[in-house]
Amino acid sequence: MTSHAPAPFRRTDADWWRDAVFYQVYVRSFADGSGDGVGDLAGIRARLPHLVDLGVDALWITPFYPSPMADHGYDVADPRDVEPVFGDLAEFDALLAEAHAAGIRTTVDLVPNHTSDRHAWFAEALASPPGSPARARYLFRDGRGPDGSQPPNNWPSVFGGPAWSRVPDGQWYLHLFAPEQPDLDFTDPEVVADLEETMRFWLDRGVDGFRIDVAHGMAKPAGLPDMQPMEDTGLLDDHGPGDLRFDQEGVHDVHRRVRAVLDGYPGTMAVGEVWVSDDDRLARYLRPDELQLAFNFKLLTADWDADDLRDAVVHSLATVAGVPAPACWVLSNHDRPRHVTRYGGGEQGTRRARAAALLQLALPGAAYVYNGDELGMPDVDLPDEALQDPIWERSGHTERGRDACRIPVPWSGDAPSYGFSDGAETWLPMPQGWGALTAGAQAADPGSVLSLYRAALALRRTSAFAGESLEWLPAPERCLAFRRPGGLVCLVNVSAGDVPLPEGRVLLASADVAGGVLPPDAAVWLHA
Ligand code: BGC
Repeated sequence: MTSHAPAPFRRTDADWWRDAVFYQVYVRSFADGSGDGVGDLAGIRARLPHLVDLGVDALWITPFYPSPMADHGYDVADPRDVEPVFGDLAEFDALLAEAHAAGIRTTVDLVPNHTSDRHAWFAEALASPPGSPARARYLFRDGRGPDGSQPPNNWPSVFGGPAWSRVPDGQWYLHLFAPEQPDLDFTDPEVVADLEETMRFWLDRGVDGFRIDVAHGMAKPAGLPDMQPMEDTGLLDDHGPGDLRFDQEGVHDVHRRVRAVLDGYPGTMAVGEVWVSDDDRLARYLRPDELQLAFNFKLLTADWDADDLRDAVVHSLATVAGVPAPACWVLSNHDRPRHVTRYGGGEQGTRRARAAALLQLALPGAAYVYNGDELGMPDVDLPDEALQDPIWERSGHTERGRDACRIPVPWSGDAPSYGFSDGAETWLPMPQGWGALTAGAQAADPGSVLSLYRAALALRRTSAFAGESLEWLPAPERCLAFRRPGGLVCLVNVSAGDVPLPEGRVLLASADVAGGVLPPDAAVWLHA
């Protein structure tokens, strides 16, 4: 292991992530420092003051590694360098140093399941014969049928179409995502060793941890048998045990190797993107020698419905009841419709999103805020010609994909690109009429979503939020009420009528509670 310079706060606070608020920077869409319309590392550096004012504890920066961008960076051609569109290693080091100096820890994406088809290993595999060690790093197989012209099994790609593509010599290779993202074979020791090298590369530079992409996907069942045929395997979701592409036993060996590396760097952590909804199966990823955190997608997939929301909380807490991990709450990310839009959009969507933020941030454990959540950003319907997500093409133009939730963040001014970039052009177009949504406009408005987030994150640091447990309180119908050991009481009103405020001193509310009642689609924090 090479030496590394620990960030000043390391080791004094090894469990910092347990109740941290992480901010997801979708690098293409956060801020553009170079003026080309695509977000980059320089843009993040320039906007650190926003993150300090917001009060986040840590960043998760989505992939900024060299990539042909077939899946906007999740097709990694070299996991140990920086894509020129986003900057260079010196820029990354500067960003890391500045974030640390501002008291913000920094985690980066690790994409172990697959590489880009432009990775040197894949080029070598294509140039090598079937059965060669170069092909053994990936999942090359002969096809079925007399002439091998059928894919080796019936697995569909998450992005549509079959999960197999054929190469000129007749063999097929597996890609759970786009053909430009060939899956690696984690039974090959070289593959695991390379992942460890990548982790050390970034840990030695001083990163505080990783978000692990498709963390339930690295192991495939022996013999690659057919899976239960399924109609909808689009986007990541949990399709249950019949889906042999994910959640296989061998994946836990990979997580143990990941954890062993992290344990050599005290104070570092990993959060897994684990689309496994069964409480017990998800808990297996959080055993003491595996991941510190696993995203909990139950809030992100819940409707604005009291039973759904309560179930999401109950199951998430049940998942972590028998493991060392705390829960880890997510409302939105770069793969799913934003919650303002999920909750109905417009004024109603925003009102509910404000309430949901207070719910998310009151729950015990870690929380992830997706860039733009703090502004109440909605999804944007884009015209066909603007769509960039590979899902659009792969689905034969039946699925519009994820571009709608990836629109660049509006910072200031009254016209595109709202301070995102020097010019008006951005990699996904920004709509007219977003002046009031900009961070600049909201910073000046005490009633804005941004002001609500700032106040909430400041309060989260107070003793009212102490303790990792939660006690459900009696609540009016279609309301959720709970108390944290430190004295925080949170009431969320999902019903259609006003409900009385519980006992206690109001700390923060997502709507006006001056009359002693909490209106519909609102939440309040009290100290009792
Ligand atoms: C990422 C997606 C990406 C996929 C393939 C996901 O889970 O969040 O954005 O397309 O992994 O890497």
